[in-house]
Amino acid sequence: SDRMMLGPLVGSIDQGTSSTRFLVFNAKTSELLSHHQVEIMQKFPKEGWVEQDPKEILSSVHECVEKTCEKLQQLNIDITNIKAIGVSNQRETTVVWDKTTGEPLYNAIVWLDLRTQATVERLLKKIPGKNKSFFKFRTGLPLSTYFSAVKLRWLLDNVEEIKQAVGDGRAMFGTIDSWLIWSLTGGKNGGVHCTDVTNATQFFNNTLSDLALTTYIYKLFCIVFRFFDIPMEILPKVRSSSEIYGLMKSGALTGVPISGCLGDQSAALVGQMCFQDGQAKNTYGTGCFLLCNTGQKSVFSEHGLLTTIAYKLGRDKPVCYALEGSVAIAGAVVRWLRDNLGILKTSQEVEKLAAEVGTSYGCYFVPAFSGLYAPYWEPSARGIICGLTQFTNKNHIAFAALEAVCFQTRELLDAINKDCGVPLNQLQVDGGMTNNKVLMQLQSDILCIPVVKPSMPETTALGAAMAAGAAEGVGIWSLNPGDLTAVTCERFEPQINPEESEFRFARWKKAVMKSMDWVT
Ligand code: G3P
Repeated sequence: SDRMMLGPLVGSIDQGTSSTRFLVFNAKTSELLSHHQVEIMQKFPKEGWVEQDPKEILSSVHECVEKTCEKLQQLNIDITNIKAIGVSNQRETTVVWDKTTGEPLYNAIVWLDLRTQATVERLLKKIPGKNKSFFKFRTGLPLSTYFSAVKLRWLLDNVEEIKQAVGDGRAMFGTIDSWLIWSLTGGKNGGVHCTDVTNATQFFNNTLSDLALTTYIYKLFCIVFRFFDIPMEILPKVRSSSEIYGLMKSGALTGVPISGCLGDQSAALVGQMCFQDGQAKNTYGTGCFLLCNTGQKSVFSEHGLLTTIAYKLGRDKPVCYALEGSVAIAGAVVRWLRDNLGILKTSQEVEKLAAEVGTSYGCYFVPAFSGLYAPYWEPSARGIICGLTQFTNKNHIAFAALEAVCFQTRELLDAINKDCGVPLNQLQVDGGMTNNKVLMQLQSDILCIPVVKPSMPETTALGAAMAAGAAEGVGIWSLNPGDLTAVTCERFEPQINPEESEFRFARWKKAVMKSMDWVT
C-alpha cells in the first residue's frame, strides 16, 4: 500500500561538467527518493584545451539510471511508477557525431575550452568596426570562445572526418542535451535530434520577445548562419523545455518519455522556483552562474551580463528571459587544488583547510584558467596567486580559492543590481559547493546580504524533473504557484562589517587587473 501511496515519480538526468547524476523525485511532494552519481573524466590534450568523451558521458548516464533503479528496488519502490524523464546538461559543450553509426566524430569540446581564440579573432574581423557588441545586440551574447557556435566552426575547419561526414550528409551536431536525447531515444535507429530553447544560445536571438522570436526566427537564423557559415541540416530542431521529445529505447526505463530539457543553469532557476520577474539564483558547480528572471521581456545588459532564455515550459507557453552572470571557474578551482597541486585528498577537505586559518592572510587567487568570463569577457587573462609571503601556507591558498568564488559572485551581483536597478536583498544559492558552510558564510560576508540555501540543494535536477512532469501528455507535476511545495532553507547572515568586506573586494579587483595584464 505504501507503494500505491507514493504516486507518480519523475527521473532526472543531470549531466554536469564534473559528473553525471540520475535522481528520482516524487511528483506530488518533490521529495528526492534516490540517486546515483558518476564522475566524468576531463582531458587536457593541450594548454587551454578541455575535452570529454561523448561515449563516456552516455555510458555514465546509463550507469546512473540502472544503479538508481536498483537502489529504488531495494527500497521496495516500483520503478514502473517513473512516468517521465527530464534532462539537464552542462551547456555549450559541443559534439558532432555520425548518424549512420551513432559514433562521435571527435571528442566533445567542453565549454571551458580556449582553442577557438583564433577563430573568434578571425570572426571578429568580419564584423563592421570589429565591434564585440555586434553579436550581443543580435543574440544577447558576445562573440566568445565559450559558446557552441564558434566551437562548431572550429570542428568544421579542423577535423577532416567531420568535413567528410558533413559532405556525405552523415553529420549531426548538438550540445550534450541533443547528444543524450538522440542516443537515448534510439540513436542510429531513429533517435530524435532536438534541443531546447535554453540550449540553443548563440544560434538564436535571445533578445527578441516571444512573438518576434517565432516571426523572425528564420531571418535571424540566416544572419547567424551566414556569419558562422554553418550547414543548417546538421543542427537539432529547437523545441520548448517541456514537451515529449521521444521515448527511452533501452535499459530499465525503456518506454518512459523524455519530456523535459533545460540547460543546467535554467533548470536550477526553475528548481529554485524563481518564476517571478526579479527572482534570482546562483549555482556553484564547476563554474558559477547567477541567473535573474526578467519575465517575458529581455533586458540588455550594460554591465557584462548575458541575455538568455530562462525557459519555455510548454509548446504554447511564453518564453521567459534571464540576465545571466557567468563565472568559468568555481568548483573547478578546488578540483585543481586537489589534482594539480595535490594539497587536498578530497574536494571536501578544502572546507577544513580553510576553516583552520579563517583568513587568506592577504593572499589573493584569481583562477582565470579559461580567461575571465563575466563581467570582463577577457579570454587572454590567466590565473594568478598574489600577496604571498614566507608565512603563506596551503591553508591560506585554500581560503583564497574559496574567497575567489565569493568575489566572482560579488562581481555578478553588482552587475545584476546595476542592470536591474533594484538590488537583490538576499541571494538564493544551490549546487554541490553549497554544502561547504565556510564558503557560504564567506559568501554572505562578501556580499553583505543573507545567503539562502534550500535544504534539498539538487535544484538543477529538480527543475528538469518539474519540466518533464509538467509536459503535455504527462501532466503529473503542477507548476501552479499554489501547488508548488515551499522550499525549506538554511540562512547565512553577514558577520563582518561592510568596510572590511569592501577593503577585501577592492584588493580582489586589483588582483583581477593583474591577471588581465597577461593580455599580449
Ligand atoms: O554553461 C556551462 C554550464 O552549464 C556548466 O555548468 O554546473 O557544469 O558548472 P556546471
